[in-house]
Amino acid sequence: MEHTISITEQAERKVTDTKSIPFGKVPTEHMFVAEYKDGEWHNAQVVPLHDLTLSPLALCLHYGQTVFEGMKAFVTEEGKINIFRIDKHHDRFSKSLHRMCMPAVPKKLFIDAIHNLVKLDADWVPREADGSLYIRPFMIATEDRIGVKVSDEFLFMVVCSPAFQYYTKPLKVKVETTYVRAAQGGTGAAKCGGNYGGAFLPTQLAREAGYDQVLWTDSIHHEFIEESGTMNAMFYFDNVLVTPQLSGTILDGVTRDTLLALAREKGIVVEERHISYHELVRAFNEGKRVEAFGAGTAAVVAPIETIAIGHKEYTCYTGADAVMFRLQKELYDIRRGIVPDTHKWNYIIN
Ligand SMILES: Cc1ncc(COP(=O)(O)O)c(C=O)c1O
Repeated sequence: MEHTISITEQAERKVTDTKSIPFGKVPTEHMFVAEYKDGEWHNAQVVPLHDLTLSPLALCLHYGQTVFEGMKAFVTEEGKINIFRIDKHHDRFSKSLHRMCMPAVPKKLFIDAIHNLVKLDADWVPREADGSLYIRPFMIATEDRIGVKVSDEFLFMVVCSPAFQYYTKPLKVKVETTYVRAAQGGTGAAKCGGNYGGAFLPTQLAREAGYDQVLWTDSIHHEFIEESGTMNAMFYFDNVLVTPQLSGTILDGVTRDTLLALAREKGIVVEERHISYHELVRAFNEGKRVEAFGAGTAAVVAPIETIAIGHKEYTCYTGADAVMFRLQKELYDIRRGIVPDTHKWNYIIN
């Protein structure tokens, strides 16, 4: 079914200096919203940003039937706006929705919604080298019913917010062996709200102990590395880029996929496999140069400087010639249109 998106523009546009504002704090002036009822999407519209009216019985408020995505728009060298890997974000959104018994959003509706919204709020895409517009599509279950059930009604929305450097210095992370983020057969591979709420306490405890993030391990052995915060985990040692395989318990990160493709193109050996923290300890103890970093849309490439394993802290390599920085630069250059986009990852809004 074709959806026409109506657009109601905000009368007064006020673009403020957003650089000093923390990630995600300031939304742009418009949002997209569409309603799902009677098995179909209705009323697709870009409208001035507004608060929602929800019944206190709305199912999303009780049972966590919510899914979201996160992607970014950049200004290219030519001054055009580029949304990076919108197709892959739609694929993952579809998989998350399926896992959470929520209705699919047709690809055309997803792309048109984001296109129209970003075009209208184009002034908000930062021009600075470290700036981008973070785009947050999400869906919530809105049927008002207190009984535990799959909702029959939903809202699909998109909001945006300018984003700058997420982490300003290399990270200290702690390998988590008590709490787990996800187990086999669970929702770890879906970008659903509950995964994040469940991560708050262990992350808060790690922060209180002086770390920026936890490095999750698997739910059975508490030994194999999973991911970290809102990032996939990557390591480079012995001339190999190693990252945990997509086992169903970690997110299929778009940045992960992108960096692996770029690394393979550069002739770097890539392994997607189990990584035991014992293997990392061995590498550190043998005096090997170990790079560790997080890969994600918000943080892009986040160097890890310190990994705490048990009661010991190990130092990773973060020198300027590290492989992670080569990959980061390549990614930057593609998104900014500085080098050709041979993978067709860029979606340019004219
Ligand atoms: C749990 C988790 N892992 C990994 C990632 C990285 O995924 P992406 O590169 O698609 O942002 C994210 C962020 O979306 C995340 O929330």
